[in-house]
Amino acid sequence: MCGIVGYAGRGPAAAELFEGLKKLEYRGYDSAGISTCDRGEIFTAKRGGRVEELSPALKNLPGTVGIGHTRWATHGVANDINAHPHCYGKFAVVHNGIIENYAELRAELIAEGHKFASQTDSEVIVHLLDFYYDGDFSDALRLTCARLKGCWAIAALCAGFDGFAVTRHSSPVILGEGVGRFAASDIYALCGRAHSYCVLEDGDMAIVTPAGTEIFDRNMKAVRRAFEPLKEEYGDGGTDGCPHYMLKEIRQNARTMRATCDKFFSAVNAGELRLRLASADKIVLVGCGTAYNAALAAVRLLGGAYDCPVSAHIASEARYSPPRVTKKSVCIAVSQSGETADTLMAARIARDAGAYLLAVTNVGYSAITRIADKVVPVCAGAEVCVAATKSYIGQLACFHLLASLNAPDMRRESILKVADDVEKIANGGTYAEVIARLCVQSRAVFFLGRGADVDVAVEGSLKLKEVSYIFSDGYPAGELKHGTLALVDESVTSVVLICDEALAEKCVNAVEQILSRRGKVAVVTTLERTYDELKNRVDAAWLLPSVPAHLAHFVSATALQLIAYRAAVLAGRDPDKPRNLAKSVTVE
Ligand code: M6R
Repeated sequence: MCGIVGYAGRGPAAAELFEGLKKLEYRGYDSAGISTCDRGEIFTAKRGGRVEELSPALKNLPGTVGIGHTRWATHGVANDINAHPHCYGKFAVVHNGIIENYAELRAELIAEGHKFASQTDSEVIVHLLDFYYDGDFSDALRLTCARLKGCWAIAALCAGFDGFAVTRHSSPVILGEGVGRFAASDIYALCGRAHSYCVLEDGDMAIVTPAGTEIFDRNMKAVRRAFEPLKEEYGDGGTDGCPHYMLKEIRQNARTMRATCDKFFSAVNAGELRLRLASADKIVLVGCGTAYNAALAAVRLLGGAYDCPVSAHIASEARYSPPRVTKKSVCIAVSQSGETADTLMAARIARDAGAYLLAVTNVGYSAITRIADKVVPVCAGAEVCVAATKSYIGQLACFHLLASLNAPDMRRESILKVADDVEKIANGGTYAEVIARLCVQSRAVFFLGRGADVDVAVEGSLKLKEVSYIFSDGYPAGELKHGTLALVDESVTSVVLICDEALAEKCVNAVEQILSRRGKVAVVTTLERTYDELKNRVDAAWLLPSVPAHLAHFVSATALQLIAYRAAVLAGRDPDKPRNLAKSVTVE
């Protein structure tokens, strides 16, 4: 949520920063800006809109050191003035996070005679720097941070200083070294330019110049932090010939399942983990958005494998009404990015209450991995599209593997077998196109199912609304007659998932109830019999490969992801960057 970059080297900083910002754009894309420093002067260009809009201004930004920002607005609309960097006196600042006490600081600084230009919370940082500066840049930044409440990653320039300072508190900062020195909110921005990277610890401050980097801990004691080799595979590899990252990433679902299975047994000690889960008095899962939807599937999978209560909690709620845990409990934090503020906070609360903390995450260096007792890696690779697709599939694979430790009938081999089916679905698209067309012609789209299909229906609905902006809801088919049926008419489509033989008949009843109200119906099923029964009576029917009910979410979720993708394209949306959203929600 907001991306920051810094560069200090021998090349033109503006071009380096611009490249970095393009890679970080999925963290926020409503405005962008760059400041450079040259011969004691700061030069700034900032614009409302996408990073690309900065391109014409790059020529006006001389110098070989600078900072940049791509924004997801929290305080103040997206426009040129509210875009970062914010400049005042000798300083320019970019910020990722939220300054919770900004109003009080702003009032204090205004009383001191400071004039504010923007409506942002972030602008107080540059004014505080100016206020505290007495010739020592790093000391001014330290004093500034001591006044802040909230979360931040900050990069700052000081006119006359040939470098930049960067510091963090609950928002990520990665340093990179290559031909030049870099800082960025995540590793993707460094790929191809840095050969090694280092993740700053909370409270660290780095002073980065073309000649070297010095790192200080929260007590301003110089510290050494290990730089690791930056591997090519950390990069996103572009769209790989697909028109969008979303399609490319759906097509990587099968690969993610295979890679996650391959890595699992080398990443965890299976015996120890089984014992931990099998002796737990309860297992609680926390996550947001798609990660929470994956946790819903985990409730069924782990609930069937372990003899203790298993529950899933929306992290933003769990923070305020935390599930009760003990020293015998296991908390599983589910997060693609590993940086989601609410998930981190809910996980910390559970851990502080004594629970063993497992992190199911796609980002091995993320904040969640630093507080977890054990990490179960999702091996999806870089997920660039704001809508989570392959990471959800990878999270499901992790839950199957965790369940399989204590349930001999759940085997790794069966996941690998389903991966082949997932691959076929992801590479097709005709049925998805037909159903997507129905969706874009509809006033609203409901996703229904029973049993494990409900969890996929909820996720399918999130995916559709997120990328196509069509109103949508996902819910248990049995609930239809308890309210939602009032909304059904010829302008509404219901996508009905039927992937469990035992529940099929009841789902067909729901289809009948919708058809009787002239609602449109699209059936997505793994059951041939159900398909034959309904295909000529409904508006669209998609027969997926036949797979056991407990594995069906891999294929049905892939199908719904494709439907959402096609609907976004048909509706003329950018599925990779839905309006108002951003990847990696690091604010609360
Ligand atoms: O990085 P996380 O998995 O913690 O992110 C959680 C949600 O913000 C995320 O899943 C969001 O709902 C996606 N945009 C859904 O596609």
